[in-house]
Amino acid sequence: MRLLMAGSPGSGKGTHGRRLGAHLGVPHIATGDLLRDQVSLGSEIGREAQAYMDRGDYVPDTVMIEMIRLRLAQPDAQNGFVLDGFPRTQGQADELDKLLADLGQSIDAMIVLEVPVEEMVRRLSGRRTCPTCQRAYHMDDNPPADDERCDDDGSPLERRSDDEPETVRYRLKVYGERTAGVIEHYDVDNVVRRVSGEASVDEVAARVRDALGV
Ligand code: AP5
Repeated sequence: MRLLMAGSPGSGKGTHGRRLGAHLGVPHIATGDLLRDQVSLGSEIGREAQAYMDRGDYVPDTVMIEMIRLRLAQPDAQNGFVLDGFPRTQGQADELDKLLADLGQSIDAMIVLEVPVEEMVRRLSGRRTCPTCQRAYHMDDNPPADDERCDDDGSPLERRSDDEPETVRYRLKVYGERTAGVIEHYDVDNVVRRVSGEASVDEVAARVRDALGV
């Protein structure tokens, strides 16, 4: 299956995209994670992206489109993927359509996670992330088994620099202005599945699988 995960910052795209990828046996490709990897490596792309990410703005389309073009060409993405956080602009959606059409592929479904604004701010305030594998935890709702270390690889968990409440509110504003309309682009042929993300992680994961019939 070729799936898109959409929703505002903090709606749960990463948490559920990761689970869905594992469930379906396809890669979970998150553009935020790809960018953070580049920042950690200190690459030219990472240095360019960091300032945009720290203030909650979108990284330019040209950078994002090239990054996704290279990632979707990798062997592990040939039989499907869960693409999380892309496309976020109309330009990215148009380019993804072209890229998939050239490959004779199409999107099977777009999951849109719907969560009230105050709940997203609360979730991001309590989020801790593994710097090694990027798995997200929440210190109240979805804590790691061992204090502040990742269950998967034992790395000390960190707080993302863009999770300060003021930056979160700015990210939500940017999402409303630039990404909400992209969902309409896919709102044809029964591609969009809206799922309420306001429940426990396990309950929302079950809703996502039900919406896809998998
Ligand atoms: P990105 O990393 O994609 O950030 P985002 O879209 O703001 O989304 P988040 O990762 O903050 O949240 P999420 O929806 O994945 O929620 P999560 O599962 O972690 O992008 C970061 C930046 O990179 C952007 O601001 C931009 O600068 C740049 N960028 C990325 N893609 C781009 C693109 N295509 N174009 C241009 N720029 C781009 O969950 C959040 C918290 O809630 C966690 O703590 C989790 O444990 C908890 N939680 C999840 N589900 C539940 C639940 N059901 N109940 C209770 N708690 C829950």
